[in-house]
Amino acid sequence: MHTFSRAFTATPSRFKHFLLLLSALLFLSILHRLHHLHHHLYPSPAAFPTFESPTTLPPPLPSLSVHHLLFSVASSSSSLNSRASYLRIWHSPISHLNTTFLFLDRPLPNSSLSLPPIIVQAKSSSLSAGHRIARIVKDALSLNVPGIYWYVFGDDDTFFFTENLVRILSKYDHNKWYYIGCGSESYEQNEKFYFDMAFGGGGYAISAPLARVLGRVLDSCLDRYRHFYGSDARVFACLAELGVHLTIEPGFHQVDVRGNLFGLLSAHPLSLVASLHHIDAVEPIFPGMSRIQALEHLFNAVHVDPARVLQQSVCYDRTNSLTVSISWGYAIQVYEGNELLPEVLTFQRTFKPWKRGKNVASSRYMFKTRDYPSDPCKRPVVFFLHTEVADTAGIWTNYTRHSAGDCLRSKEIEKLKEIIVFSHNLGFDIEQMKAPRRDCCDILSSSDETMRIQIRKCGTDELITRQG
Ligand SMILES: *[C@@H]1O[C@H](CO)[C@@H](O)[C@H](O)[C@H]1NC(C)=O
Ligand SMILES: *[C@@H]1O[C@H](CO)[C@@H](O)[C@H](O)[C@H]1NC(C)=O
Ligand SMILES: *[C@@H]1O[C@H](CO)[C@@H](O)[C@H](O)[C@H]1NC(C)=O
Repeated sequence: MHTFSRAFTATPSRFKHFLLLLSALLFLSILHRLHHLHHHLYPSPAAFPTFESPTTLPPPLPSLSVHHLLFSVASSSSSLNSRASYLRIWHSPISHLNTTFLFLDRPLPNSSLSLPPIIVQAKSSSLSAGHRIARIVKDALSLNVPGIYWYVFGDDDTFFFTENLVRILSKYDHNKWYYIGCGSESYEQNEKFYFDMAFGGGGYAISAPLARVLGRVLDSCLDRYRHFYGSDARVFACLAELGVHLTIEPGFHQVDVRGNLFGLLSAHPLSLVASLHHIDAVEPIFPGMSRIQALEHLFNAVHVDPARVLQQSVCYDRTNSLTVSISWGYAIQVYEGNELLPEVLTFQRTFKPWKRGKNVASSRYMFKTRDYPSDPCKRPVVFFLHTEVADTAGIWTNYTRHSAGDCLRSKEIEKLKEIIVFSHNLGFDIEQMKAPRRDCCDILSSSDETMRIQIRKCGTDELITRQG
């Protein structure tokens, strides 16, 4: 170019100036590119459409407490009478919950004591129950309860383990969009609905920023799903439209099974138990008690050490050739002989399929199950939770023998009447929650009638197996 060639042919001093200018320009251009790159890696908040009031920096994660969770319980004027006593178990005064609300279709003729505040939803006689209950998301938000990080939804026959929910949700950043729950135990039920849908009876949690967006778009979205069956499928569909998928937490239990829940409860996964549902459909979880009494009994252990409830530890008695499986706060099984650990951790099929009918034998579950012998003498001997005592030294839980027929057992098992388990409170550590490890146990002594067991952290290289 003319001007360029003229500059090029200029005097040496002008040429030096030119070079200086050129390098300065180059430097600026590199700076600009670096800045660009930085923006690419760390886009400024302004680069996104703002959904919520924009903040320069996300606030540090505060330690979550139960008051940061708003519990929405879907009920109806017709079901509440029979379900109120269930609700009172997990929502007892001892839990100090002030952020639970009960959503009803109609006002109650007589308001009952010791129930959470009742919200009567707008009249919508033309709408199905599924549609009304899905709208609880919106109605819960319009309560404008301050300081809520998570909105938790469940039915009036959902039992929440509130302390454990707090621990589970602590793993996630409540400033981000999360939809957390679990599917059904039944393959058929998941196939009928969706495999990646949180089943509503097991309950699910939605982080506050996602709940706010969902609340805004809910009505326009729900119109497209009037033909859907439940509220959970509707909420799932609207979250899918927002591009959000389910984060699975196996501690939420829809309990789509019937009969005896023992097999499910005695081999609970390492995840903390977050909920239980369909208690009407199963037998009382402790023998010789009503459903309510049995749940109250379990919740006595929940009040002592919520995180450890149903957590399974297995130990082996080498001298007497016994395998002991503890489901803390619930039951202990003593097997004759050395059972392989993976077998002991597998669900025993004590329960029946959710769907009743002729072809129930073909029912499939979302997990492996093993046979539960119909002959009680071929089953392990079961000890159920009796009492729990906690002091500064630790926690003692006693389990007493459940007699199941006149069986010929080995001498060591025959005389056993009681098992006492010592443990420490299962700590509240988010890192351990993210990468949990099963606790170990030792059989300390086995006097004639009483076996004493201690639960403790495993050693780094320690294996859960028959020692020696
Ligand atoms: C619930 O109780 C806690 C602790 O007493 C308190 O900090 C919180 O503000 C209360 N929340 C509501 C919505 O009343
Ligand atoms: C309402 O009153 C009836 C009759 O006294 C009683 O049977 C029922 O349990 C009450 N409902 C509630 C929710 O307490
Ligand atoms: C439970 O264990 C404690 C501690 O060993 C013992 O004092 C108590 O008698 C036991 N209770 C029952 C009912 O077995």
